[in-house]
Amino acid sequence: MQTAACIFDLDGVIVDTARYHFLAWKRLTDQLGIHFTIEDNERLKGVSRMASLEIILEIGNVKMNEHKKLEYATLKNEWYVEYISKMTPAEILPGSIPFINELRKADIRTAIGSASKNTPMILERVGIRELFDAVSDGNIISKAKPDPEVFLKAAEMVHVSPDACVVFEDAVAGVQAALNAKMKCIGIGSPGILTKAHFVVPGLYEMNLAKLKTLENYT
Ligand code: G6P
Ligand code: MG
Repeated sequence: MQTAACIFDLDGVIVDTARYHFLAWKRLTDQLGIHFTIEDNERLKGVSRMASLEIILEIGNVKMNEHKKLEYATLKNEWYVEYISKMTPAEILPGSIPFINELRKADIRTAIGSASKNTPMILERVGIRELFDAVSDGNIISKAKPDPEVFLKAAEMVHVSPDACVVFEDAVAGVQAALNAKMKCIGIGSPGILTKAHFVVPGLYEMNLAKLKTLENYT
C-alpha cells in the first residue's frame, strides 16, 4: 500500500514542548508538596491533561475531589500557556520542515494528530500551520491515546484510508494508538522504548521520502 498521508504527533515530534509541560507540572507539584522528577515526566508523554494530573496525584499519593482536580489542571495549563506563548520558530525540531515539505511536493497529505488542546496556539506561535492539510487535536476528540480516535479523525479529514497512513510518534501510548488505527508507525526516539513501532528514528532529521517508501513493504 502506497503512503497517501503522514500524520504527526506534535509534542516531541515537531516541537520540543515536553520541557514546558514539565516546568508547569513541576510548579504545581512544588505547590502541592509532591516530589516530581524529569523521569516521572516521561510517563506523561502523550497522556491527556487530566490523566496526567491523575498520574501525578498517584505518584504523590494525594487524594482530591474532582472540583479541585479541575482547578489544579486549569492552573497548570495557565502556566503552560504562559511558557508556550513565548515560543519561536527556533523551537521547531530539526528536520521537521524539510521532511514535511518533501512529502507535500510528492503529493502526500500531511496532518497533525495530537492530544493537546493547545495545538492551534503552538502551530500559530511557531508559524507552521500552513504545512498541514488537517489538524486533529485534543479539542475535537473525546478518547485519549492509545485509543485510535485522534489518528482516525486525521485520516478522515484528509480523505485517506487508515492503511495508507503513516504516523510519527514519540510516546508509547501514541505508537499503540497508531497500531490500533491499523496504521504504520515510525517511532521518534529510542527503539528500546518504542518497541512496537515499525521502525524508529532519533528525530525527523533522519527521515526522507526514500526511507518512508521502504516502510510500504512492511506488514
Ligand atoms: C500531548 C503531550 C502531553 C500533554 C497532552 C495534553 O500529548 O505529550 O504531555 O499532557 O498533549 O496537552 P494539553 O496542552 O491539552 O494540556
Ligand atoms: Mg508526543
